[in-house]
Amino acid sequence: MADILLVDDDKNVRITLSAFLKKMDNNVDIATDGEQAEEKIKAFPYDLVITDLKMAKKSGLDVVRFAKECNPLTEIIVLTGFGTVESGVQAMKLGAYDYITKPPDLEEFKLLVYKALERKKLLTEVEYLQHELKDKYKFDNIIGSSKEMLDVLSLVSKVSPTDSTVLITGESGTGKELIARAVHLNSKRKNRAFVTINCGAIPENLQESELFGHVRGAFTGAIKEKRGLFQEASGGTLFLDEIGETAPATQVKLLRFLQDGEIRAVGDTEPIHVDVRLLAATNRNLEDAIEAGEFREDLYYRLNVIPINIPPLRERRDDIPLLVNHFLALAREKTGKQLETVSPQAMKILTGWKWQGNVRELENVIERAVILSNQNVILPHDLPMSMQSLDADAITTQAGWEELSLEEMEKRQILRTLEKYEWNQKKTSDVLGISTTTLWRKLKSYGIEPKMKE
Ligand SMILES: Nc1ncnc2c1ncn2[C@@H]1O[C@H](COP(=O)(O)OP(=O)(O)OP(=O)(O)O)[C@@H](O)[C@H]1O
Ligand SMILES: [Mg+2]
Repeated sequence: MADILLVDDDKNVRITLSAFLKKMDNNVDIATDGEQAEEKIKAFPYDLVITDLKMAKKSGLDVVRFAKECNPLTEIIVLTGFGTVESGVQAMKLGAYDYITKPPDLEEFKLLVYKALERKKLLTEVEYLQHELKDKYKFDNIIGSSKEMLDVLSLVSKVSPTDSTVLITGESGTGKELIARAVHLNSKRKNRAFVTINCGAIPENLQESELFGHVRGAFTGAIKEKRGLFQEASGGTLFLDEIGETAPATQVKLLRFLQDGEIRAVGDTEPIHVDVRLLAATNRNLEDAIEAGEFREDLYYRLNVIPINIPPLRERRDDIPLLVNHFLALAREKTGKQLETVSPQAMKILTGWKWQGNVRELENVIERAVILSNQNVILPHDLPMSMQSLDADAITTQAGWEELSLEEMEKRQILRTLEKYEWNQKKTSDVLGISTTTLWRKLKSYGIEPKMKE
């Protein structure tokens, strides 16, 4: 049962519509003009306000504006006279849900009311969820308010307290490790170790001893005993990144652990019991890997008890502006630059880009733009060249590039060369024809922080 305020100065409309709304099982309040409506809205958070546009004293547009200010979650439907569609559109710009011409077709009116109330319910749930999540869980560093991201966080909040194995999937740079950490931080193991291993970075023949340890003399070169990561993670969480890259022998041992909680060090005869929660991540489609005979199907099912899929950034573009601001704030802290904002045009490029490298790519682009910018706003020409061509006004952008000072061009050239050679300073200085000391001095004066390519 919803609370609805009906505002109209026409008595007949009030009688017909309020009777109809009551029959739909709603509580209906009445106001006969805009002023009275505002009094009532101030006093009570209605789910839905239905208002006439043309009224004495205050207009319906004033009511829309006022209602949205008082309670942004209130939905509004506007009643317009015949042939005044434009003011209906204007009301929608102010936040009204929709408009309908008078006298309304009652079936159409009913549907509109249903849809508005449905939306109100949904948005209230999302807001509630956000508060709930923020209060209860540590997600401070995870940015996102898209439906997709809220779904991910709500799943994280559900699985964290359990000891279930979680398989996190998503393209490179979508935040799989971030989510894995969040699962650990919100679990009862949070004060114990969180150990990570990138399976793709460990040669197959070393994976087993790295994970499970080995006894002295287990193989040539094993001159003393070594504890494995499972033991390091005892009582805590072990995060297996790029699980798709594990060797067949390692897969067998992981399966054994998931089945009966036991591991065996390489060269040891006795299995030991360890208390470890496993989280795994992959940007590979494991079902394809199974098909190709590279991944054990039985292990897959044991790992995939609870799947969390993080959608690529291009499928949740609503998150982009928030992420841009987040990374801007981080870069501001890091560089001490007073960079306030991103120009609307640059933001348009950012929200439209394909982001194959997902959030990590976005993070790098913003960091780079902050270094390059010499104003307090990021402009299209501070973005990588490839992105600038996405700009419909690329011509002006190119002109901007030509108007750069010599120093500015030098800075950009250095940065581009560094990026091209994966931040290798020796190579970069060779290509630019300067000494590494000169390069180093220039980096410092331009505020470019040298970094290692991941
Ligand atoms: N929702 C988010 N909010 C804030 N930062 C994020 C978010 N998602 C990702 N990041 C940041 O983006 C970067 C990449 O994230 P992360 O390393 O977790 O991705 P990944 O999926 O593990 O990537 P890969 O597959 O390449 O290992 C990190 O710096 C991380 O902090
Ligand atoms: Mg990762």
